[in-house]
Amino acid sequence: MSTDVDAPTTARPGTVSGSGNVIVSGPLDDRPSGRAILPARSYTGRAEFDHEQQAIFSSGWVWAGFTHWVAAPGDVKPLTVGGRPLLMMRGDDEVVRVFHNACRHRGMALTEEPIQVTKRIQCAYHCWSYNLDGSLAVAPHYKRERRTSPDTEVKDALGLLPVASESWAGMVFVNLMGGDLDAVAPPLADLLAPLQQRWAHIDMDRLHLTQERPFDIDANWKLVVENFLDFYHLPFIHPQVGSVAASLDVDDVVVDSEILGGCYPRGAAGKAAKTDQPLPWLGDVPAEMLERQDIFCVFPNALLFLEADWFQVIGFEPIAPDRTVEHMAVFVDRAAGNEDFAPALKRLCEVLYEVNEQDLPILHKLQAGRHSPGSDRTSLVSYWDQITAHFQALVARRAGYSG
Ligand code: FES
Ligand SMILES: [Fe+2]
Repeated sequence: MSTDVDAPTTARPGTVSGSGNVIVSGPLDDRPSGRAILPARSYTGRAEFDHEQQAIFSSGWVWAGFTHWVAAPGDVKPLTVGGRPLLMMRGDDEVVRVFHNACRHRGMALTEEPIQVTKRIQCAYHCWSYNLDGSLAVAPHYKRERRTSPDTEVKDALGLLPVASESWAGMVFVNLMGGDLDAVAPPLADLLAPLQQRWAHIDMDRLHLTQERPFDIDANWKLVVENFLDFYHLPFIHPQVGSVAASLDVDDVVVDSEILGGCYPRGAAGKAAKTDQPLPWLGDVPAEMLERQDIFCVFPNALLFLEADWFQVIGFEPIAPDRTVEHMAVFVDRAAGNEDFAPALKRLCEVLYEVNEQDLPILHKLQAGRHSPGSDRTSLVSYWDQITAHFQALVARRAGYSG
């Protein structure tokens, strides 16, 4: 039986489309499957949500926050990752560390609000206090008498429990190692090396935060990722960003199995100018990369958008099956941090916020549709959705969903 795979205008998976753009190979073929890769219940069910919090968000490196949340030594910021309460603190040595947010005495959370402390953070229950490196500093009246302290080896054993954490490009990642408190995490660089190589021309040490804004979204976290990886919708939902041809001039990119997305090789030229005033480049950007836009998900919850002169991060926290809180931050080169650039940076953020706001009603309706049995019979399209299919296949593998 002949199929339209043979037709000359048909883009085969893993090939180049008629428009000259790369389509990676992936789980989809040219025929509609009529079968969703992920079950609809994985977007709506509480049990599935809780399972993903463990199997995905507590088992591997995940985005946890921004380094600017603890800008100065003594800044303390509570976080929740994989449903677990954590504390991010910047030490006197400027190092950002993450700990389990549970006092080693009776397990009380040390704080549920961001605070600033001097040298130590104190538990409010029996006033044990911890140094900013997590070590136990004081446990008053430990042996009942005044001025008694735990013996050194006891004290050494009662520091805050550390969580594997590393910082990169203004972000903090943590690895909860599946809840195994004694396990040693693999270096974050093992995950990020292919992306760092692709972005070797960008000087991440020069990042300067312009603005940050939260978005409270009434949709499952997977829809947030899938929508970010969906380039097909741009001309329909975000027509202001450029011509239809420019919006569709995008290559699929699989940087690595857990870093997926797309690249507009000529995107910054073909899309509407975001600012009248040019911004300084984020490093020594080669001429052939000046117009490039990279849009990647670092699985599962860091959504990155890079142009030569700005870097947008959406990190998010899954709150409930139908609720996700995004933290969107926009960075530029530190040379753009002075007042001269203020109007341009304001405009840049307005443009980026507008795009994100346009997606909110779409996400709401995508979530609403997941309650329909029809959502188990959807068909991703091989021409557009291989990256989304890769993402869904990765979720299916990690969470153990079978199709
Ligand atoms: S629970 Fe923190 S000092 Fe007792
Ligand atoms: Fe969008």
